[in-house]
This record gives sequence, structure tokens and C-alpha cells, in this order.
Amino acid sequence: MNREKILVVGSSNTDVILRIPRYPLQGESLVVYKREQALGGKGSNRAVALTRLGADLDFCCKLGKDASGEFILDAYEKEGVSREMVLLGDTEGTGTAYIMLEDSGSNTILSYLGANGDYTQKDIDVVLSKLSHYGYLCMDLEFSLEAIRAILKASKEGGPKAVIDAGPVRKELPLEAFRGAYVLSPNETEASGMTGIKITDRDSAEKACAALYQSGCENVILKWGKQGALLYDGTDFSHFPAYSGSGKVVDTTAAGDCFMAGLTCRLSEGYSLKESIQFANIAASIAVTRLGAIPSLPNRKEVELMAEKAGQEGYFDR
Ligand code: RIB
Repeated sequence: MNREKILVVGSSNTDVILRIPRYPLQGESLVVYKREQALGGKGSNRAVALTRLGADLDFCCKLGKDASGEFILDAYEKEGVSREMVLLGDTEGTGTAYIMLEDSGSNTILSYLGANGDYTQKDIDVVLSKLSHYGYLCMDLEFSLEAIRAILKASKEGGPKAVIDAGPVRKELPLEAFRGAYVLSPNETEASGMTGIKITDRDSAEKACAALYQSGCENVILKWGKQGALLYDGTDFSHFPAYSGSGKVVDTTAAGDCFMAGLTCRLSEGYSLKESIQFANIAASIAVTRLGAIPSLPNRKEVELMAEKAGQEGYFDR
């Protein structure tokens, strides 16, 4: 298969998952009934998902020289994620994300960037010097702002097609920073945070997408939770409903990362944006039926089988 190479740039974290019955109220103390630890980070999740989907990629992130960093490097080795572009630093520890996971399956995340936020000019230069080797850049915003700014600028000036996961919202970045990106993709909360428009229905979702399109990106794809995805290409809005035939939703952690991976994987294989969104929806629909970030990410065969089932049910004709 003819496919373009992808550079994934983003965060790598140790996820500390706190299982709770519900989110605490302001000022309330709540007992956590289970605490687990696992490999995560928006960048790691996309890199592992893309690898399982059979994409051709390199992954750039920054880890601390500590036990968590070593654990993560081992995990990459086992998953077959190339370590060539993984940066190591000794001034900050490996990043940590604290995930509150409700019984309903929804989550809230606090992310301590650590090494993810600690790119030196030399690190940035390494990434910039390699950008032209790739057809697609698949990036999140959970790392050094200096690095994000420099990479966005370079990709706009003739670099790879940028597919940007807009999470987490970085208020320091003006919308114009995304000018020239091929895809800008926030979830509902991020879209509201970036535009000030609360998404409550189709109308407000369209308004938020239109506001984000003003950044000068080519396409906005709203990751719309249970509703699936909404694409705005500057002319039309297209809604791609979520696929519900994969099973019961147990944990939405990394579903957005899985969606971004599915999208970029399919684009890199030459599929249209619409076909790529449908593939991404199927991949994400599987991820939400499983616990955890990395353990929830499906492989190619699983997505293809589920897509076949969805096709037989008429999902793609809607
Ligand atoms: O998108 C999910 C990821 O966000 C988690 O794995 C956590 O590390 C945070 O970065």
C-alpha cells in the first residue's frame, strides 16, 4: 500500500487513574475506590494507536531520565513504537496525568507536563530539521508551548499536512497559530474553551466550528462525544454520527486520541477526509468499550471487522 509517513509529536505520561463514583463538588473530599497506573499521554496514545493500525510513523516526545521514563521506553519497545525521536531530559521528570474516571465512563484530566514541557532549543531544532521527511504531522498541545509554536510555524511554511488535536486548550496560543493546519480538531469542551461558545446543540456546534475555522485552518473536525464528529470545511457542515454497535461505553479515556490516530492513518493512505472520519469513528467506538488508554486502542483487524459489521448495518449510508 502506498502511504505517507506520519510524524506524531506530543505528550507521553504516566496516567494515574482514580476510579470514583462521581466528580467531587467544590470543597468536597471524596474517597477514591481504585487507583491504577498506566502508560498514557495524548501523543503516546496516538503513536500506539497508529502503530496498531499499521501506519508508517515516528513518534517524538520528551521523557525524564527516571523510572517512569524507562517503563515507558520499554512499553514503546513492546508496542513496536520507534524510539528514534524520543527525547530525554534530566531537568524534569516524566509527565503525569491524573485521571478522574467516573462510573459513567466519562473522565476529567489534570496533566502535569514535566519533561513534556521542557523542550530546549536544541530539541526543537531536531524536530524542525526532520519535518520535511513526513507527509503528515499528527500533533497535540500537551507539551512545550515554544516547541508547539515553532512546529506549527514550520509546518505552515511548506512542512507536512498538520492534523492537530486541540487538547488541552492552551490559552497562550491565539487561534491564528493554527493558520494553515489541514485539520484542527477539538472536543466539545476544548471547542468551547477556545471560542467561548458553549456547545449544547447542532446550532452552537456549527457556530463553534465556524469560529475555529476563522483561525485560517483548512478543516475543523469537532469530536462531538456521543454525537460522533462534525466536519466544517469552510463551505459545508457534515455530521458523522458515532457508531454504537461496538458495545457498551465503559471508559472514554483516549477515545479522542484513537479518533485522531484513525483519521491520520486513513488520510496517510490516501483516503478522503470523509472516509477517514468514518474509519476514525469506528476505531473510537471500539476504544470506549474498554478500560484504560493504551489497553483500549484497537488494532487494524479489529477496526476492519467492526467496519464490516457497521457496513452491513447500513452505518455508512446514513
Ligand atoms: O487523551 C487522554 C490522555 O490525556 C491521557 O492518557 C492522559 O495522559 C492525558 O494526556
